[in-house]
Amino acid sequence: MSRVALVTGGTRGIGAAISVALKGAGYRVAANYAGNEEKAKAFADETGIPVFRWDVSNYQACVDGIADVEAKIGPIEILVNNAGITRDAMFHKMTPQQWNEVISTNLTGVFNMTHPVWSGMRDRNFGRVITISSINGQKGQMGQANYSAAKAGDLGFTKALAQEGAAKGITVNAICPGYIATEMVLAVPEKVLNERIIPQIPVGRLGQPEEIGRVVVFLASDEAGFITGSTISANGGQFFV
Ligand SMILES: NC(=O)c1ccc[n+]([C@@H]2O[C@H](COP(=O)([O-])OP(=O)(O)OC[C@H]3O[C@@H](n4cnc5c(N)ncnc54)[C@H](OP(=O)(O)O)[C@@H]3O)[C@@H](O)[C@H]2O)c1
Repeated sequence: MSRVALVTGGTRGIGAAISVALKGAGYRVAANYAGNEEKAKAFADETGIPVFRWDVSNYQACVDGIADVEAKIGPIEILVNNAGITRDAMFHKMTPQQWNEVISTNLTGVFNMTHPVWSGMRDRNFGRVITISSINGQKGQMGQANYSAAKAGDLGFTKALAQEGAAKGITVNAICPGYIATEMVLAVPEKVLNERIIPQIPVGRLGQPEEIGRVVVFLASDEAGFITGSTISANGGQFFV
């Protein structure tokens, strides 16, 4: 039977493209989402991928949601930590709430999701944990002290956990997308995109969500077992580590 993959925030944007790419590669896929029922239902109807609602910033909700997915589909062998939010503000105007919401979702959410699946992966001697970080976790971005801190934290988490998983057949990797054409980025005024953002990208365009989906399919495969603790940049040449 084909392996089971769970994608957080898997119903919209990059996550939706990841879910579809994994399904196309033959995995049994479950997609989690936070609360946008309309988008989740449309996604499930269109793709046939089952959707599950819970908040990744809540540990118990993750434990319960994962148990539900495993009962309905099977043990999770591939976890894609994709759910993420922005609450941008210059630091002198950033509120503790803006800080906490982003850290709770984008960093603690990765712990909350990975911790409940980890023992099962160890027991089965196979696992793939793939976290969607960001170019802004690598280089920092003004107006995003919260987001850059969380996404850089995801990279430290990945490198530490890769060392723990290696002897048990579990790989732990991160992908750092640059600017990808999702609702998050297309909400930026066209003039700003064309005059300020795209000129910073050497390939001269935004990335497509499907381009991240293909990286996930590669890292998820059994054949990628020698790649762990890695950060793969997919940013059109905008930033080299
Ligand atoms: N777009 C870019 O250019 C870009 C660049 C670098 C990195 N990234 C990262 O890539 C990931 C996806 O970004 P995107 O642009 O595709 O975002 P998006 O279009 O805003 O979609 C976000 C997804 O995450 C879900 N989500 C948000 N908070 C959640 C929570 N607490 N619990 C469960 N699900 C939650 C949303 O669910 P609902 O639909 O229910 O709200 C939605 O499915 C994020 O981690 C983002 O930081 C994006």
